[in-house]
Amino acid sequence: MTQPTPDKYTVHYHLRAPEGLLNDPNGLIFFNNQYHVFFQWNPEGTTHANKTWGHAISSDLVEWTYLKPALEPTDWFDKNGCYSGSAIEKDGKMFLFYTGNVRNDAGERESYQCLAISEDGEQFLKKGPLFTHPKNYTAHVRDPKVWKDEEEDCYWMILGAQTLGLKGTTILYRSADLLDWKFSGEFTEAYPDFGYMWECPDVLRMKNKEIFLFSPQGIETEGDFYKNVFQTGYLVGDFKNGKFVPTGETFKELDRGFEFYAPQSFEDNKGRTILFGWMGAMEPDVENAVPTRKEGWIHHLTLPREIKWENGQLLQQPVTELQKLRNSQKLTLPDLQTMNKVEFSSSEQEMVCTWKSAAASFDWVLRNEVSLKYNADSKRFTIERTNWLTAERETRSVQLTESLKSMQLFIEDSSLEVYLNNGAEVFSLRYFKKERTNLWTWKKDSWKENITDFSIFELKKVIEF
Ligand code: FRU
Repeated sequence: MTQPTPDKYTVHYHLRAPEGLLNDPNGLIFFNNQYHVFFQWNPEGTTHANKTWGHAISSDLVEWTYLKPALEPTDWFDKNGCYSGSAIEKDGKMFLFYTGNVRNDAGERESYQCLAISEDGEQFLKKGPLFTHPKNYTAHVRDPKVWKDEEEDCYWMILGAQTLGLKGTTILYRSADLLDWKFSGEFTEAYPDFGYMWECPDVLRMKNKEIFLFSPQGIETEGDFYKNVFQTGYLVGDFKNGKFVPTGETFKELDRGFEFYAPQSFEDNKGRTILFGWMGAMEPDVENAVPTRKEGWIHHLTLPREIKWENGQLLQQPVTELQKLRNSQKLTLPDLQTMNKVEFSSSEQEMVCTWKSAAASFDWVLRNEVSLKYNADSKRFTIERTNWLTAERETRSVQLTESLKSMQLFIEDSSLEVYLNNGAEVFSLRYFKKERTNLWTWKKDSWKENITDFSIFELKKVIEF
């Protein structure tokens, strides 16, 4: 069953750019019967420069068509990059809000919050900057996320910002018509000293709750937490009269893997809240060493994840449409009963496993590279990979509050997403291994006890370059 070693670290169902560098998902919207995903894109190279808005559309969140870039850095107010932002529909038109990044003649940063409007979702007319910022913030003001407040009958725009004391924060603007915006103050008083910059803020509206999602920079590692170059997490609370007040829990990381960063959510026509993240943010030297740069591309987005708020818990679940990726070929538990390894003929698989009451301990190695370990006594789950720059093994762990009862994996040639307990904890990561194999191995057979449902599907390649 061994296949010829592929010569590229391809991904075939995670959304990537045709070439160049991709970072944040932008402007997510369901508009005119299509899902639109825009993304930060340097089409000219694999460095963080020339940021345009790449554009892909889909009718099912599975198969994608690439359109021409929606925004390019061609004007005085965005000449050094059309930075991240969001989309909203009004009167049948798509409004894009984004940050124009400018280096002025003195080499200093300037940021402009800009608008572009489209009638058809393909051609965008830039309207330029909307307002100037209050003086008590540095020029690090960016990533407008706009939403409609039905109760107040207005629109809000939240922006990542930095105080003059160099602390991360978020500021809020209010508008009746998406054109005229008034500064309304800081979004929250919570976490006044939590890193030097907050990027890509988002406000997810759940049943009677708001989830404030943001990506703080400058947070120190604490045990199992905050181990990535930059973090992404959320606070749960109430948003009223232009202020967000957290209730209960502290900042919780959204994804416990390695590179996840700068996610954005949107509500689709079925009322689902769907989120894409970027895979992802890396230390510059680690990013430089990513082998796909030699192939002319780098990074991709996460799978679309449906966000649910259930029993006081945020759950992230791959959207059900992704089942369309499944080929008919499938392995079930009886196939594996007497084996301690399995080899596939391709690199793309999904695995679904549910245990009756609690999983037994396991120790798996995927593709001779990524190990997944669960200790049933301590309820600790650990993922381990090799750092492609230093060649050292590195881990991310989570202490589950309840025993492991379900696990879903999405694996590709150079990336993996792991969903535990219905998405209560999620890990995403990239990995790059020189010797390629599609072998999965496990140490003991005891993990097979108590399993109620088990399948491994080979997945279709829907994205080819
Ligand atoms: C997050 C970010 C945003 C910015 C964009 C630029 O990754 O730094 O704050 O708008 O990327 O590409």
